[in-house]
Amino acid sequence: MALFSSRTGIHRACATTLSISLVSLLSVGNEAVAKPTLDVSHIPTPYPVVERMLEMSKLQPDDHLIDLGSGDGRIAIAAVKDWNAGSAMGIDLDEDRIAEARQNAERAGVADRVRFEQGDLLEADLSEASVLTLYQLNAKNIWLQPVILKSMNPGTRVLTHSFELGEWEPDQSDTVEGGTVYMWTVPASVAGKWQLTTAEGIEALILIEQSYQRVVGSAEIEGEPVMLSDPRLHGNEIRFSIDSRQYIGKVEGDNIVPVDEANGTAGWNAQRI
Ligand SMILES: C[S@@+](CC[C@H](N)C(=O)[O-])C[C@H]1O[C@@H](n2cnc3c(N)ncnc32)[C@H](O)[C@@H]1O
Repeated sequence: MALFSSRTGIHRACATTLSISLVSLLSVGNEAVAKPTLDVSHIPTPYPVVERMLEMSKLQPDDHLIDLGSGDGRIAIAAVKDWNAGSAMGIDLDEDRIAEARQNAERAGVADRVRFEQGDLLEADLSEASVLTLYQLNAKNIWLQPVILKSMNPGTRVLTHSFELGEWEPDQSDTVEGGTVYMWTVPASVAGKWQLTTAEGIEALILIEQSYQRVVGSAEIEGEPVMLSDPRLHGNEIRFSIDSRQYIGKVEGDNIVPVDEANGTAGWNAQRI
């Protein structure tokens, strides 16, 4: 997929609306003070699009949402007020937006569960979030993409308004009132060689290649190639079949542990070698 796909192309109108601004100078008394560079103006996400983003993210009470470039705070506030998130945080470079968002959280009665911090989203610690939302231009999203993949836990949902995350294809998208929402789930790292052992003594060597959430693989049992069918990765859940037997496991670092005893996939494990 091209770095700037045709899907992003349809949002050129949005891209031009989100104007690129230069360092502006504020006059304080006789002194000129540099204001932090805001490379995206505050264009709030329309409420129907906010609703769809939060609906798609399937928020749970143990979720912590971070909105990068949080503007008036509408996404983070709605997440805890109307969509079940346990807590949320918004980060914005613009102190006026932070003050406005804090006021909005007070008015909505959720100031105890949502906080807003002034800062540069490019320097934010994302590791605590289980859901990440952003409405920024392509350049920022492309910069953030490897940071998200490296620092966020497998299974974290990432939702953007209008702009994608470079070459990483979304798992899901939807258009609401002219605004497109994209969603990704951070995949576990599964590339490499794995030794799979079953309770019946079957030993298989599995080779997995990975591109984001897409995986392909091959397997070998006692030196003979066997099919590794239909491998799929979603967050830290991996599934594949060998000889008509399906394996469903949870990736925990260099181990895969079976997760579904009900359909007979227990009694095996795999280790990265
Ligand atoms: C398009 S608005 C989105 C606001 C909100 N997330 C929403 O969807 O309604 C982008 C916001 O990003 C903020 N912003 C721009 N560059 C930033 C940066 N480097 N760090 C943090 N915030 C930034 C702007 O101040 C603005 O509030």
